[in-house]
Amino acid sequence: MLNHPKYPYDIASIRADFPILNQDHHDGVPLVYLDNAASSQKPRQVLDVLDQYYRQYNANVHRGIHKLSEEATAAYEDARKKVRRFINANSRREVIYTRGTTESINLVAQTWGRTHLKAGDVVLSTQMEHHANIVPWQMLAAERNIIVKYVPILPDGTLDMEAYGHMLHDEPVKLVAVAHVSNVLGTVNPIEEMARLAHENGALILVDAAQSVPHMPVDVQALDVDFLAFSSHKMAGPTGIGILYGKRALLEDMPPWMGGGDMISTVTFEGSTWNGLPYKFEAGTPSIAEAIGLGAAVDYLMALGMEHIHAHEQAITEYALERLAEVPGVTVFGPDAGQKGAVAAFAVEGAHAHDVAQLLDAEGVAVRAGHHCAMPLHSVLNVAATSRASFYLYNTFDEVDVLVNALYVVKNTLVRG
Ligand SMILES: Cc1ncc(COP(=O)(O)O)c(C=O)c1O
Repeated sequence: MLNHPKYPYDIASIRADFPILNQDHHDGVPLVYLDNAASSQKPRQVLDVLDQYYRQYNANVHRGIHKLSEEATAAYEDARKKVRRFINANSRREVIYTRGTTESINLVAQTWGRTHLKAGDVVLSTQMEHHANIVPWQMLAAERNIIVKYVPILPDGTLDMEAYGHMLHDEPVKLVAVAHVSNVLGTVNPIEEMARLAHENGALILVDAAQSVPHMPVDVQALDVDFLAFSSHKMAGPTGIGILYGKRALLEDMPPWMGGGDMISTVTFEGSTWNGLPYKFEAGTPSIAEAIGLGAAVDYLMALGMEHIHAHEQAITEYALERLAEVPGVTVFGPDAGQKGAVAAFAVEGAHAHDVAQLLDAEGVAVRAGHHCAMPLHSVLNVAATSRASFYLYNTFDEVDVLVNALYVVKNTLVRG
């Protein structure tokens, strides 16, 4: 099936780029990696760049005038330009390096939130958020007496847009904080429309794009979002690096968050002044190799084409939903393939999600089980935990078959009668 007509690219050669995919998971059992929503695998093009940095030009950035430091700085800043092009930001100054989505959202909460929100203001989140887009707002609420409200989801796992409109209109909403794609339901939220409505009602919008930027074309100007956060490790890049995109005027207006080297313009014993964008938000020695590795990941994704990656994942997800529907007692959460990212969270009747994941692992299939950092959503779904298969650019239709066959083994072992 490796030359299935639905593959938009040469999947065999793509898989050959990812060394980890070409090994046995257990003796004689090949790895079927379906935990991509947690973290993706990395191609040799990214691994090589990390290796080259440490072997050939390891040095601190923005500080030295020696050749190694200049090389490291050029590669580090070059990666920022790649990310700018990738998401179509207006300027590289709008691209802030952080440790990942979580840190990006906390940065906005701690800087923009602390200066612009006052008691009684509402941050409008949704019932389908990852903890990373709930807890920072709750922490701010405890400190500032702001109110966090949640747009409900409909029974099909999509957002209740009617409720969204009412809440925007009826509440003093200052910020909408919403996931582009849910990491459990896979729901793709209508961000362009949500941004337009937020702006019409005088609110800003922050988008948690951890599950969209790795999988589909995302253009921050077309979406007209104010802030957008994502993580490198979910998009074939290294861990420890991510991005906060923000509109320049907003970022200019925000105070820095962490203080230290590189983020200052001048320091005296009496006080300090701040560096310009993006450095104002990048205190201390950054994750240099990781940023350069993210740049290599962006090159890799752009060479494949985000439209192709998206089309491939849609075909795989559609196939997975069809095949999972054949397995008696398996319920998949979230909307149909047409409105869904590359995620299938499911429950197996009569079996605990952790037992399911453990037995799938014995069959070589790596999935995640638990609440996937979305405990409130699981309480809305009325399940304690789900198992989650999530796909990426290198997954195959054959691997979906392995998952489904393994689920029959799981059911025979766990579910009797
Ligand atoms: C939707 C969503 N938001 C935020 C995060 C947090 O990302 P990170 O742990 O890379 O900061 C994740 C990771 O699972 C996610 O899926």
